[in-house]
Amino acid sequence: MPSNAPIGFLDSGVGGVSVLNAARKALPYEDFILYGDSGNAPYGTKPEEQVISLVRAAAQELMQQGIKALVIACNTATGIALAAMQKELPIPVVGILPAIRPAQKLRKDGEILVMGTPNTVKTKAVLQLMETDGQHVLLLGCPGLMEFVEKGELSGPRLHAHLEGLLKPYLNTKIDVVALGCTHYPFLQSAIAEFFPEETQFIDGSTLTLEELNAALTEKDLYTDKKTPGTTRFMTSGGEDTLQLMDMLHKQG
Ligand code: DGL
Repeated sequence: MPSNAPIGFLDSGVGGVSVLNAARKALPYEDFILYGDSGNAPYGTKPEEQVISLVRAAAQELMQQGIKALVIACNTATGIALAAMQKELPIPVVGILPAIRPAQKLRKDGEILVMGTPNTVKTKAVLQLMETDGQHVLLLGCPGLMEFVEKGELSGPRLHAHLEGLLKPYLNTKIDVVALGCTHYPFLQSAIAEFFPEETQFIDGSTLTLEELNAALTEKDLYTDKKTPGTTRFMTSGGEDTLQLMDMLHKQG
């Protein structure tokens, strides 16, 4: 039966806004709520057990809002906790992973550089993708990078220096595709692109996530039947400044 309940999005912080922005374009009538766990971020350097507990608690915050489906809009949380959430929650749950397979379709004769959190590049989910689609894929864990987005620092010399430290080993390699394997990183795409030739392509996992979300909503007949623009609401374990930043990143598209 059609449902006018909101769709929940969950991330360790403000990065989930990049997935929500993509979903907003595809699903204009749906209501969205994003819970950004900025008070407990980052997830990318915490032990797995701790990440699972944090994701479980954040999912409960969203369940209390009566969501009809959950998007884990965080590669790290998906890699570590998607299976547990799908088992524990009574609603459809989809996640996001680095777009390694779609990146293969864009690759020419160079390499694919996958940037993710230190946890993401070693999760089982990513290592399985590497087994099937890992030819010419270089995995790069990026400690400290999401923190720039959490502070709203999307350009400037400090960010440039941090990126230079991370990307230095790859700057003499022909990189055809950069896969942004953390939902915070699309907000840093311009800063990252400065290190690569113009023809380098960028990709993230949100297209596949939206396909999975659409499939789940279709299967359970959960699409809203209202024809008025959907609302977007932000919740956070961080402060008022986090809410403002989410709003700014959302408006920026
Ligand atoms: N936004 C997250 C991701 O997609 C993680 C950032 C973090 O908490 O380390 O992996």
